[in-house]
Amino acid sequence: MARTASSKKWLREHENDTYVQRARKDGYRSRAIYKLIEIDDKDRLLRPGAIVVDLGAAPGSWSQLAARRVQPGGRVYALDLLPMEPLAGVEFVLGDFTTESVLRDLEARLGGRRVDLVLSDMAPNISGVASMDQARAVDLAELALEFALGRLGPEGAFLVKTFQGAGHPGFRQRMLESFETVASRKPAASRDRSSEQFMLGRRPRAQPDPEQGEAGNATGKF
Ligand SMILES: C[S@@+](CC[C@H](N)C(=O)[O-])C[C@H]1O[C@@H](n2cnc3c(N)ncnc32)[C@H](O)[C@@H]1O
Repeated sequence: MARTASSKKWLREHENDTYVQRARKDGYRSRAIYKLIEIDDKDRLLRPGAIVVDLGAAPGSWSQLAARRVQPGGRVYALDLLPMEPLAGVEFVLGDFTTESVLRDLEARLGGRRVDLVLSDMAPNISGVASMDQARAVDLAELALEFALGRLGPEGAFLVKTFQGAGHPGFRQRMLESFETVASRKPAASRDRSSEQFMLGRRPRAQPDPEQGEAGNATGKF
């Protein structure tokens, strides 16, 4: 199939990107790893023994880093719509995070254990309609937040990719209501022209229990 002018331009930029070249040289699956390396070197999220859930994990560079940094004793549960080549120390769930059956599959693998860190680098496939793409990105971030609140322990952390635009202020507000501390991160490997930024929430606040009508701990439901 003939390449369009824009896909040729993207390919040219991709090939010239220093992070792409570095990732190839260092044996990483994606340039995205340098975003997590920078954030983790500053925020110390990946600790030995940690249980980590990596949402939107393919092709797998974040999982590569997480699996290494949680040793000894840690475990990574990765999930994506797209297949991913196996990685030692990583259990992979193939499927759409927005569907009930895929969530149940992930839940079953976690087997009631508390999670120390939920990562979400999920990004929707770009449709070209900016308002629709933004709405989908916010929906994915909201779902990841809901999952994190149901699963994280009291010292847990949630790192999520977000995009500036409609819905972002509301999502930021929910993060502020949900965690003791919230910080924004724009690592050097995140392209300047992209409205992408990461939000990091640490130590979930007690969530109101909708059945009790009063504050209680996160329930494990999502
Ligand atoms: C930027 S990539 C992630 C790169 C990854 N962090 C890495 O280091 O290799 C975003 C991923 O989100 C996934 N994704 C988007 N929507 C999803 C959904 N509803 N359920 C599961 N994965 C999803 C895409 O398939 C894509 O692989």
